[in-house]
Order: sequence, then C-alpha cells, then structure tokens
Amino acid sequence: MEKLALLRFIENRSLQRYFHGRGVEIGALWRRFPLPRRARVWYIDRLGGEGLEEHYPELRGRIIQPDLLADAAELPLAPASLDFLIASHLLEHLQFPLAALRAWYNLLAPGGVLLLRVPDKRYTFDKRRVRTSLAHLLSEHDDPKLFGLRDHYADFVANVADLRPDTQEFEQTIDDLMRRNYSIHFHAWIDDDVREIVDFTQSAWRLEWDLVVFRRARSYRKETTVLLRRK
Ligand SMILES: C[S@@+](CC[C@H](N)C(=O)[O-])C[C@H]1O[C@@H](n2cnc3c(N)ncnc32)[C@H](O)[C@@H]1O
Repeated sequence: MEKLALLRFIENRSLQRYFHGRGVEIGALWRRFPLPRRARVWYIDRLGGEGLEEHYPELRGRIIQPDLLADAAELPLAPASLDFLIASHLLEHLQFPLAALRAWYNLLAPGGVLLLRVPDKRYTFDKRRVRTSLAHLLSEHDDPKLFGLRDHYADFVANVADLRPDTQEFEQTIDDLMRRNYSIHFHAWIDDDVREIVDFTQSAWRLEWDLVVFRRARSYRKETTVLLRRK
C-alpha cells in the first residue's frame, strides 16, 4: 500500500470506534468511509448513479450508488434519528454550509456524531482562491439573496480553471458550468477557518456538540478532519 493510503487507513481505523447504530454518508461518490460492521449506513447524494457518472466521467465504474437522492442541507429524515452522519469533501460544495451544519446537528440523536472532512485550500486546486471568511458565510446565511451564484462560479473559473476574466472563454465557461449545475467548491478554507466555524456553532448558536477530534491538514493529509458528538 502506498504511504498516503496507509496513513489514511490508519486514521480511518482510529475513528471507527465512534461509529455504531444507524447513519448516513452524504456524497460518498467513490470513496465510502470504512465503517465497522456494527454500523448500518445509507448513502445519500444529490444525483443518482447515472447523473454522477455524467458529472464525474473519470470515475465511471467506481461510483457508489446512492440509496436516497436529496440535497445535503434538506434531508428528508426525522430529527434526532441518526447515530452518525458523514460528510467528506462535501461542505465546501454547499452554497450555505452553515445551514447544513445546523440541519445535520438537528438530525443527530443524543450521542450521535458528525464526521467532516474538509479539503484545505493550501494543498488543493483552490490555493489561489481567497479564504471564505465566517463573516461572508454569515451574511449569505442571514440573507440568502446576497449569495451571488455567478460570482462564486467566476471566482472558481478565474482561480482554479485559470481563465482570464473579461474574455469570451471565461464567460462561456461560467455559463457552461452553471447550465450543468456543476458542483464546484463554492467556498475555500484552511483548517483554522473550519475550526472557527465549529467554534461559532457552539458559542453563538449554542449547538450542544463536543469537538472530539480535530486534525489539522498536513502535507500528507490535505484535509481537516472534525468529529463532533452531540451531547
Ligand atoms: C468531491 S465529492 C466527495 C467524494 C468523497 N466523499 C470524498 O471524500 O472524496 C462531492 C460529493 O458530494 C455530492 N454533493 C455535492 N453537492 C451536494 C448537495 N448539495 N447535496 C448532496 N450531495 C451533494 C456530489 O454529487 C459528490 O458525490
């Protein structure tokens, strides 16, 4: 096994003790979190198998078929019904991540856990992008009309696709991505930002969950790992 895969395997093993009962993984796509046998999981995505294959042709043949199609922030599940919820490389794809965190908190039963994995922009194709501040998230959360969909796509096209603004190609690429409802990273963070968001949910929103695991991104682990347990 190559070194990175081995490190991930060890890290995943160390997290397994937090998982039991019934839960969901949202957006597993091709890489499900390895759960112990005592845990029963359902897979949720915004697209079905065919839609995912079309969206991610490079993953054809490796896609995990979702059991349920739903938007991550509006899951049709009963409050306090889940022992765990897993969202790996998903939060940054959501237009309103704060609303999703609150919704996920409400779905957790007492003692239930949320596992988040969030890519750190310093180690990804987002490295040229400006970090999304908590103030920015809050203003869009408080007034969703302020969410500039085209602006977020433009930021992605300028800094990730590396196209020059004010060119025809730039505008056409944005149009194309928007037409396909392409799942970009609407937000880009580093580990400190993720920590700030978690702290905010506890201190300002008074969500009663404990931060049980917080692993910072490292060159060999390009993501922040967070495990929150509802009291
Ligand atoms: C980058 S992939 C993550 C793959 C995998 N979990 C990992 O850690 O590499 C993002 C996944 O989230 C799904 N997704 C994106 N936005 C979503 C939404 N609003 N609701 C539900 N699923 C969503 C995508 O379809 C895709 O399957």
